[in-house]
Amino acid sequence: MKIVVIGGTGLIGSKLVTKLREQGHEAIAAAPNTGVNTLTGEGLAEVLKDASVVVDVSNSPSWEDDAVLKFFETSTRNLLTYEAAAGVGHHVALSVVGTDRLSESGYFRAKIVQEKLIKDSPIPYSIVHATQFFEFLKGLADISSDGDKIRLPPVLFRPMAADDVASAVGRIAVAPPLNGTVEIGGPEEFRMDDLVRRRLAALKDPREVIADPKALYSGAKISERTLVPSKNARLGETRFETWLKQSGAQIPSAHTTH
Ligand SMILES: NC(=O)c1ccc[n+]([C@@H]2O[C@H](COP(=O)([O-])OP(=O)(O)OC[C@H]3O[C@@H](n4cnc5c(N)ncnc54)[C@H](OP(=O)(O)O)[C@@H]3O)[C@@H](O)[C@H]2O)c1
Repeated sequence: MKIVVIGGTGLIGSKLVTKLREQGHEAIAAAPNTGVNTLTGEGLAEVLKDASVVVDVSNSPSWEDDAVLKFFETSTRNLLTYEAAAGVGHHVALSVVGTDRLSESGYFRAKIVQEKLIKDSPIPYSIVHATQFFEFLKGLADISSDGDKIRLPPVLFRPMAADDVASAVGRIAVAPPLNGTVEIGGPEEFRMDDLVRRRLAALKDPREVIADPKALYSGAKISERTLVPSKNARLGETRFETWLKQSGAQIPSAHTTH
């Protein structure tokens, strides 16, 4: 099956392309540096020719309110238009658990627009809501920093390894479209401030993490269970300590820093 992975050079995308190729699929990594730009439409008609499935795991280079909205709105419109012309039969998109509860955040307003465009389009689809990636814990510290202090709400969450995200998205991409949303998460629940503190300690990052119930998450007020997936979520296997011991976890990727 020809599967085009938009954002196929990113954290999730590169793992997904490898996994799909291992299963014998023709997986194409599409991103600006492979000649495909969803914002401008460049390269889309060519790359989508004969594609059965498109998986969108791209992300906006800027998380500033207007820029991120423009990115997800324009990119998704372009993608769906070119997919319809090419006869693509399944559009898969990666989004975030709790997106619909986070509309105070500019980033999440953009993800809500992305999801609405997909649901309103005639193309069969599957939306995957993932929890925060372990690889994003340092990025979470960076977007929540106030000088050398990091203020985070002590809420519950169920983060997961990027590798488990890519495996789950890969399984959904080759299955029939859900025409709905599925949630995926990690095997353990944590307090957000506690886990970020543990991640920074492992990185020997000296910044202090302060539990602050009033602290915002990506610009939005959140409560105890805003980020927790439902009981029906499909859970990945990789535990936090196992992930930490893996060599790659010691070096933050450029994509997960801000
Ligand atoms: N971070 C989390 O904890 C989390 C949790 C749940 C869901 N998600 C979702 O997961 C998705 C992927 O995240 P990620 O961390 O894997 O992203 P990432 O590593 O930042 O990768 C983003 C990808 O998008 C590509 N891209 C950027 N602009 C593009 C354009 N104009 N046209 C085509 N491709 C473009 C990038 O290409 P270049 O490398 O060439 O720039 C890169 O391949 C996002 O939609 C995010 O909302 C994230």
